[in-house]
Amino acid sequence: MSKKLYLETLGCAMNQRDSEHIIAELNRADTYECTDRLDEADLILINTCSVREKPVSKLFSEIGVFAKHRKEGARIGVCGCTASHLGAEVIRRAPSVDFVLGARNVSKINDVMTRHHAVEVDIDYDESTYPFGEYRTTRYKAMVNITIGCDKSCTYCIVPHTRGEEISIPSDLIVREIVRAVEGGAREVLLLGQNVNGYGRRFGVGVVENVKNFTELLRTISRIEGLERIRFQSPHPLHMDDAFLEEFATNPKICKQIHVPLQSGSTRILRAMKRGYTQENFLERCAKIRRLAPEAAISTDVIVGFPGETDEDFEATMAVLEAVRFEQMFSFKYSPRPLTEAAEFEGQVDSAIAGERLKRIQARHNAILDEVMHAQMGRIHRVYFDERKPEGRIAGRTDDGKLVFVSGGEELLGQIRDVEIIRTSRTALDGRVI
Ligand code: 5AD
Ligand code: SF4
Repeated sequence: MSKKLYLETLGCAMNQRDSEHIIAELNRADTYECTDRLDEADLILINTCSVREKPVSKLFSEIGVFAKHRKEGARIGVCGCTASHLGAEVIRRAPSVDFVLGARNVSKINDVMTRHHAVEVDIDYDESTYPFGEYRTTRYKAMVNITIGCDKSCTYCIVPHTRGEEISIPSDLIVREIVRAVEGGAREVLLLGQNVNGYGRRFGVGVVENVKNFTELLRTISRIEGLERIRFQSPHPLHMDDAFLEEFATNPKICKQIHVPLQSGSTRILRAMKRGYTQENFLERCAKIRRLAPEAAISTDVIVGFPGETDEDFEATMAVLEAVRFEQMFSFKYSPRPLTEAAEFEGQVDSAIAGERLKRIQARHNAILDEVMHAQMGRIHRVYFDERKPEGRIAGRTDDGKLVFVSGGEELLGQIRDVEIIRTSRTALDGRVI
């Protein structure tokens, strides 16, 4: 009889991919079936995120709920970034937790399962050539890691302390993984890395590699037959050189959707964040994207209320929003994180002021988004259908990443079709296959 796994994944796409690896590895030792019923699970895992304080504080109350409602003998494991960061403290604070497995120690899942109160959180551990087992949540799209870790030192960010130094995965392993996914029915790949355009700077010990940078990797991957769409997440604005932007704009397999994390529009704050670019550099890169690829959607991340942020600094961020008109914007209130430089900075911004700024920037972005989405009315998009929805609807994505629903049957799944947009809203489009 197969065992049942209750797995909750928080945070970013990297965590979602780690969760797939966890399932694949568990299935090497035993057969597991995923369940969303806590009380029937034999194993309960939380794949955590520590990028902001809120999910971390929620973790311990959640563990309490899990411990109370679990089936007798069920085990609880805490994985991911908060596991890396808190290590054995997780078990000290919540003794019902059986093991702690860091974000960079996923391959040790079967090992920690066999040891009482095991803690594996080494952030120097190199999994860049580890042959993970095969498991994917969907057959139509494949997430593929191209780097692990992060070499930046943004002063607000905990990730370098949870995922360690940046190491690139050898290109032949990446290509082999994508080819396998394509053979299994995937026509789209999402390349993952903390800074995808840092690809090629450092490989694991003993690795010999010919592909030198991200642009070359994109060219190599786009030669894979049967692969039709390439997305990646996320590039760093500082390393988006001209060769990369030209490849992005002209390679027909590269989807015209690009995440360019701004964080702040104020050059003074960017310096305090150690982002390495100015407002002008950022605007120039985005203008170049708009010029070379006018059809591309640009998305971004913004932090408001970083220590020392004045009204004027915040207005600079608003000005960048106005200039670039991001198609997507993820905005966050600054959250001081342990181990980061900015947590010690003078001038921490009052939470109510930061909250006001967040409200203002989100309201302005919503208005922009309404215009962007409304302008899709009557347009024709190539949509890759990958998900069945209730009431006879099928969902897919346009090349530039917009969510589209159509009425239709399962035969649409895995197909790329022309769709006319017949209704729009802020979050999605309705269309008709033509
Ligand atoms: N506080 C608020 N937001 C943060 N992010 C990273 N660290 C913090 C922090 N300390 C945001 C950044 C990043 C996104 C994943 O999370 O905008 O791009
Ligand atoms: Fe992903 Fe960052 Fe959260 Fe870790 S801390 S799960 S890298 S978003």
